[in-house]
Amino acid sequence: MTNLYLIGNWKQHGSRAAIQAFAQQWSFDANPRLRIAIAPPFPYLQTLGEELPDCELAAQDCSVYAQGAFTGEVSAEMVADLGCQFVLVGHSERRQYHDETDELIAKKLVAAQSAGVTPVLCVGEQQAAREAGEQEGVVRAQLRSALATIQPNLLIAYEPVWAIGTGLTATPDQANDMHAVIKQEVASLLGASHATPILYGGSVNADNADALFACPHVDGALVGGASLEAASFMAIAQSASYNLSH
Ligand code: PGA
Repeated sequence: MTNLYLIGNWKQHGSRAAIQAFAQQWSFDANPRLRIAIAPPFPYLQTLGEELPDCELAAQDCSVYAQGAFTGEVSAEMVADLGCQFVLVGHSERRQYHDETDELIAKKLVAAQSAGVTPVLCVGEQQAAREAGEQEGVVRAQLRSALATIQPNLLIAYEPVWAIGTGLTATPDQANDMHAVIKQEVASLLGASHATPILYGGSVNADNADALFACPHVDGALVGGASLEAASFMAIAQSASYNLSH
C-alpha cells in the first residue's frame, strides 16, 4: 500500500504567536503511512520545526541557484539545512505573480533534487482552459516542460487554478480523472517503474476531504486556507488517516 501526503501551504500567513497557538492545539495520532508537512513562510521554518516536531517541514519555493549574489533568494540547500523534506515548485501564485516560466520551474526542480529536498511540482489549468475543455492539454504541456531533466523522485500537486482559494473544488471525478492523466503522462516521461504520488489542491477542507481521499488516483492533498487553523487541518488529517485504514 502506498502512503498519503498532506501538505499545508500557509502562503504569506503566520507569525510566531500563530505557530505557538497552532502547536498547542495540534493533537493527532501519527499514522506511519500518512506524511504530514507544513510549508510556512521562510522566516518561520525553524520555529515551526521546533514547535511542531510531529509534522514535517516544506518550503514554498526555492532559488535555481545554490548560492551567490541573488538578493532575496533562498536556496534549496538552505531549506534542507533547516530540515525541509519538501519544497513547492511552480505554484500557480508563483507562475502568476512572479512570472515563473516552465523553464525556470524545470531548473528549480533540479535544484531541489540536487539539494536532497523532494520537490512538489504544482500544475493546473486556468478557468478558461477548463471551460474550453483544454485542461488535459494544458497540464500535459506543463508536465512535459517541467519534467524534461529531472529524476523520478518528486510529488506532483494538481491544483486547478479556478479552485484555489475560491471555495470551488474540483469534483472527486474531475480530480480523479486528471490524476489518471497525470500518472499516465508522468509514466511516459519518467518511466512506469516509479510511482509518483499525485496530490490534489484547491479549496480542500474538512467537508470535502473524505470524498477526495476516496478517489483511487488521489494520493494526498495540498491545502491552503484550511491548513491555517489546527482544527481544520487536523480534521483533514483524520480523514486521510481514516481512508488509509479502510
Ligand atoms: P486553497 O489553496 O486550499 O486555499 O485553495 C491551495 C493552494 O494554493 O495550495
